Amino acid sequence: MSQKNGNTDTRYTFKIFRYNPDVDAQPYYDTFVKSYPRGTTVLEALLNIQETEDDGIAFRFSCRSAVCGSCGMLVNGAPVLACRTQLATLIGDQVLIEPLPNMDIVKDLVVDMKPFWESYRRVEPWLHADSGNEPEKERLQSPDDLHKLDPYINCILCACCYGSCPVLGMEEDYVGPAAISKLFRFMQDSRDQRGEGFLAKFNNQRGLWACHTIFRCIDACPKDIRPTDTIEALRRRLVAYRFKKFFRLVK
Ligand code: SF4
Ligand code: F3S
Repeated sequence: MSQKNGNTDTRYTFKIFRYNPDVDAQPYYDTFVKSYPRGTTVLEALLNIQETEDDGIAFRFSCRSAVCGSCGMLVNGAPVLACRTQLATLIGDQVLIEPLPNMDIVKDLVVDMKPFWESYRRVEPWLHADSGNEPEKERLQSPDDLHKLDPYINCILCACCYGSCPVLGMEEDYVGPAAISKLFRFMQDSRDQRGEGFLAKFNNQRGLWACHTIFRCIDACPKDIRPTDTIEALRRRLVAYRFKKFFRLVK
């Protein structure tokens, strides 16, 4: 601990992942020892280190308030939003900062989100409403039906779940927990018409059956979405559909 302006600051040792694929033969870590007051977030520390020590450190951020989903990274091995992770909540005074796994490095802590967005697009994350039956004003939904979606509409597309999933480290074509949660959100929507026929597209080892139920995506989600639950729910729905189809109870 050190005293500064009457406040008690804590001294931290930051080890920050560095890699510029255009220049560096391999990744390395830079170490910075810095003191910060209670309440300082990892993002604030990174901004300060960038300003005072090395303006070449690359990382993404925007809103600083857990809304934009830009600052997902590994802090001491856990996928988190840097803007909502206070240094004081970490165990000890060593802070290891690395990029999210399962995506290529663009530079330092910045990863190439392209595979995440491509997976997301595969579930067609928009309302598939009845196009031949357009309402004059809007498609109304009852409050009860809206509340069913509540736990799933807060996704900020931070990719922390995507970066945390070990299956994506082995099977890069797995659609992943964020995309499946979004699919579940639309399959639950009273206004969405796509039905089980669409779900059948994910009846394979790149879709719903790739998940090994490892639960890391639940731990990683800063918005308390529970992707594993949505995967399980869609699996049950798919099995029920296949069963009904087998006995010709549905077309
Ligand atoms: Fe981020 Fe959670 Fe959405 Fe995954 S489900 S992208 S962890 S907000
Ligand atoms: Fe991956 Fe979450 Fe399944 S971590 S294996 S998607 S439960």
